[in-house]
Amino acid sequence: MNVPKRKLSRYLKIAAGICILTTIFIIILMLTLPQPFVGKTQTQSQTLKILEDRPDKVADVGRGTVLLHPNRDSLLFTTVESPGPYLKIHFPHKLLQVVNDPPNGCRAGYFKPDGPQEPYAGMTREDPQMCLYFDRNLHAAVYDTIVAGMQCHHVYWFTTDNQASIINTISLHEHNWYGGGGLSEQRWPLQRVGVPLQPYLTNKFTSSAEVKFDSFIEPYFVSSNGAALMLDSYLPLFVSINSNKDSMLVFKSIFQEPYSAKSFKTGLSLSYKVCKSLSAPAVHETLSYLRLSPAAPGAPADDLLQFPIWSSRAFQEAGFNETRLIVFVHNIKKWKLPYNHLFIVGNYSKARGVFSFNENKFPHSHQLIMEWKEMQSSKIPNLFVGVEVFPHVPESGVPGSEVPLHIRYDLSVKQSLPSGQKPPMLLDITNEKAVHWFKSQLRNFRDMSVHGFLFADGHSQDIFPPGFQQSDLITNRSLLHPNQYTEMYGEIAGSVAAPTAARGFSILGSGYLAQKHGFIADAGPFRSAWDHQKGLKAVIPTTITYGLLGYPFVLTGPVGGLFLNGSAVARTPPSQELYIRWLSLATYLPVLELAWAPWFYSQEVINHARSMLEFRQFSLWPKYLSPAVEEAAKTGLPIVRPLWWVAPTDSTAQFIDCEFMLGSRLLVAPVLMDRARSRSVYLPNGSRWKDNLKNTVHHGGQWLTQYSVGLYDIATFERL
Ligand SMILES: *[C@@H]1O[C@H](CO)[C@@H](O)[C@H](O)[C@H]1NC(C)=O
Ligand SMILES: *[C@@H]1O[C@H](CO)[C@@H](O)[C@H](O)[C@H]1NC(C)=O
Ligand SMILES: *[C@@H]1O[C@H](CO)[C@@H](O)[C@H](O)[C@H]1NC(C)=O
Ligand SMILES: *[C@@H]1O[C@H](CO)[C@@H](O)[C@H](O)[C@H]1NC(C)=O
Ligand SMILES: *[C@@H]1O[C@H](CO)[C@@H](O)[C@H](O)[C@H]1NC(C)=O
Repeated sequence: MNVPKRKLSRYLKIAAGICILTTIFIIILMLTLPQPFVGKTQTQSQTLKILEDRPDKVADVGRGTVLLHPNRDSLLFTTVESPGPYLKIHFPHKLLQVVNDPPNGCRAGYFKPDGPQEPYAGMTREDPQMCLYFDRNLHAAVYDTIVAGMQCHHVYWFTTDNQASIINTISLHEHNWYGGGGLSEQRWPLQRVGVPLQPYLTNKFTSSAEVKFDSFIEPYFVSSNGAALMLDSYLPLFVSINSNKDSMLVFKSIFQEPYSAKSFKTGLSLSYKVCKSLSAPAVHETLSYLRLSPAAPGAPADDLLQFPIWSSRAFQEAGFNETRLIVFVHNIKKWKLPYNHLFIVGNYSKARGVFSFNENKFPHSHQLIMEWKEMQSSKIPNLFVGVEVFPHVPESGVPGSEVPLHIRYDLSVKQSLPSGQKPPMLLDITNEKAVHWFKSQLRNFRDMSVHGFLFADGHSQDIFPPGFQQSDLITNRSLLHPNQYTEMYGEIAGSVAAPTAARGFSILGSGYLAQKHGFIADAGPFRSAWDHQKGLKAVIPTTITYGLLGYPFVLTGPVGGLFLNGSAVARTPPSQELYIRWLSLATYLPVLELAWAPWFYSQEVINHARSMLEFRQFSLWPKYLSPAVEEAAKTGLPIVRPLWWVAPTDSTAQFIDCEFMLGSRLLVAPVLMDRARSRSVYLPNGSRWKDNLKNTVHHGGQWLTQYSVGLYDIATFERL
């Protein structure tokens, strides 16, 4: 993997030359293009400010319009440059009347202002450009906005008929689409997934045939032709993606379980923004800045990313105790493997809602953690301990509290839960006292010994025992939307971890609108399998999808995955081959977790693990990872990127989900098949690529077939 110095400097010179030429070209392009409607609103100048260090990304595409299709069944989004519409949104509703440039708004009273602060600051609505009137008292208004030089539109559907539904669909045939959320079976692009219509909620992964949305979702979609679509954050939304291979992306607002009309006081709506720029990376970069405006998200502490995170995930069953933990740490040191953090995941406390170690099983927890932490000498680095926590109160409630601090359920609605099942004792996140109690538990725990928290669960689906819906919940204040539960959990995590240097020691287990916290996003658990259902093949599409959603610091579970039986972890370790291939891939990912240890296998695996981890620490980190982390901290841009990042118009690159770019210079092509000793590698068009494994140079826009890769090797290519 070493490049001779002299050669490297020549490549750097060529790369620098290309960079300068590109910049000059872009500047000329920008000068010759018509100027956007500068200074239209105050917010616009603010958004431009955050973009000013990247002028090449402000792409003026000229003023476009939204047209009605002659069939009167879809909206056509156009720009002045493109001959046809760049996006078509179909609706199945019966159109009665269209008014263009309405003098007094679309019966202004019907169109409520936005709810809570939506992301993408600066996309204010002014007068509508078009009003559409449908049967069932359904209206739609289309608004124009220019944001950071991009033409955007806000489309707002609304009805006072609570029995109605509002449906909009996009064909996945015309362009490739990405984003929308983590999935329990992740593929790339969205044409390859199959998500049946379901409430748009965060879910905990369970193996099941039906594909579900996963722990982190964001109603943000990008297409290969540079269009982006962002739905508002709190809609009674159902989504399907290529369900039954229909090649459709379907958005449906309806008051149906778990949403109830009672919780949405302002009527039924479906509301989204559409923007268009020159390419997918260009539209994404601009919108990332807007999403995070005005503050940069920051990043977890370097130590969490540079070193592996060791965890007890693989032995979290009932027999888990202090002795096992001591042996584990002893072995890490004995085999001279790099370490810095250990996360204790699993059954360490007496019960959910109890934030301390079970003294019977961990009699010396405090002493041990202090000892590991303070082991500071040049020979023995220190080890920081974090623990997994859940948004629960104790089974018997919080002692001394007059009001219940957990979410309660209106059991009169449902006669009873299925056979003897009790509703979970989830923290009532809307109750200030409950939040205060939870935070003080965590602070006490931290003051006693531990350094960080893995905020497990927090999925919005968790708050609904089977058959319950939003209006059956008894909370202190009403939740605006189930996903607000996930969002507020992230806020708590942010506030517990942020004020101290320990900020970066948090890992978030679920996320909605949580990009601003800059935490590690735990996309796991992953399965010990080679497949796309949270097996090895899902690692890349998951990481690049999370990256697009604004979560650059993605953790895809421990190397080798886990055998899951329901939510329990079986004790079977992954096969040696799966472990080795997974380790090679994870070495190049933003966060690397080790739960199955290399010494479970053989001396050869231990040596390999040590050399990969040292390579990550001493070569990859300074050269590629650290600069990408720094950029992500400032901009929210992904660390691990899809191939189209460097070749937006290359239609093959738009499909690849078995290779990725680390930053913009290194292409990584791991082997993802059992017993394979070769693979095909696609090199994106428009660049030359230096093969680090075989020390040759290839031009882009071609497949290398039957490219041989030994069991302990991984193919990587430097973009020249
Ligand atoms: C966790 O440990 C407690 C006490 O040691 C035990 O009662 C409980 O069953 C354990 N839970 C699991 C999931 O193993
Ligand atoms: C942990 O469990 C093992 C057996 O499973 C036992 O030998 C050991 O004494 C236990 N240690 C503690 C601290 O309970
Ligand atoms: C909400 O919680 C506060 C304490 O945080 C309590 O005083 C109040 O009575 C609660 N209200 C309801 C409706 O539960
Ligand atoms: C999964 O767990 C159930 C009980 O929790 C057990 O009966 C079953 O044998 C387990 N399956 C496997 C494959 O371990
Ligand atoms: C590759 O890029 C070159 C220009 O850089 C272009 O002429 C060619 O058509 C592209 N090939 C493909 C397959 O996109």
